[in-house]
Parts: sequence; structure tokens; C-alpha cells
Amino acid sequence: MTELTLAIIKPDAVGRRLAGRILQRIEDGGFHIRAMRRAHLSRRQAEGFYAVHRERPFFASLTAFMSSGPAIILVLEAEDAIKRWRALMGATDPAKAEPGTLRREFAESIERNATHGSDAPDTAAYEIGYFFAGVELVE
Ligand code: CMP
Repeated sequence: MTELTLAIIKPDAVGRRLAGRILQRIEDGGFHIRAMRRAHLSRRQAEGFYAVHRERPFFASLTAFMSSGPAIILVLEAEDAIKRWRALMGATDPAKAEPGTLRREFAESIERNATHGSDAPDTAAYEIGYFFAGVELVE
């Protein structure tokens, strides 16, 4: 059974014109791009997306960064997509990410870390629904 996950190419990566290379790595990694949109999030939209992190000390800085420029938001499909996309991204902190991962290669810092991915099926469902209508995902 295939699975869907929500991926974001974050404003740091889009701003440095890395989106094309990251999209190539997504396709080379065996993911199907089921939906894709470029969006410059408002601060409130970023806060809603990261609501689970609202008590964290980095919440204000994170939501300022995520609303600082356009991002590319995707729904990816693959077998075990959630785990496999997280493996391709690497650890949140690029200093701890394995060689060959997107964050090791492209991230600037633990916050400006190039990409986002859902961490579990329930968060994937929330995050996909936050940006895309169900009707957009019907083949
Ligand atoms: P992401 O996978 O999108 O999930 C939450 C984000 O918060 C994370 O990537 C980073 O961009 C950011 N983040 C996580 N931990 C920290 C931290 N310790 N300091 C700053 N930003 C962080």
C-alpha cells in the first residue's frame, strides 16, 4: 500500500534556487509528486501549520522564517512515504544529518533546514489537509 506525506521546500532553499535540484532528488528517490504549489505563507498561516510547536522557544523565529519568502509545498506518494521522505531529508539539524541527505547537502542551520516532512500518519493527514483539498488528490 502506498502512503502520502506532506513535503515543503522551505524559503531558504527556494531563495537559493535549490528547488529544481531537490525536486529531482524527490523523483530519483521514487516518490510520485501528487500535488505541488508555490506559496508565500503569511505569519498566521505558518503559525497554524506549526501549531504543535507553539510552546517551543523557537516558535516565533520558525514562523517568521517560514513566512519570509515563497515555499514549495508538495504531496508525495510512495510505499512507506513518511519514513522514506524523512530518511531522504536527514536529521533536523544538518550537522547531525547523514552524508547524502538533503539537509546535510542543502540546509544552512537547524531552523533554515531546507525541507520539511510529516513525522507520522496523523500529522501527514493534518498537514496535507491544511494545504490541499481532498478533491485535488483524487487521480
Ligand atoms: P521541521 O521538520 O519543519 O519541523 C519543525 C521545525 O522547527 C524544524 O524543521 C526546524 O526548521 C525548526 N526547529 C526544530 N528544532 C529547532 C531548534 N532547536 N532551533 C530552531 N529551529 C528548530
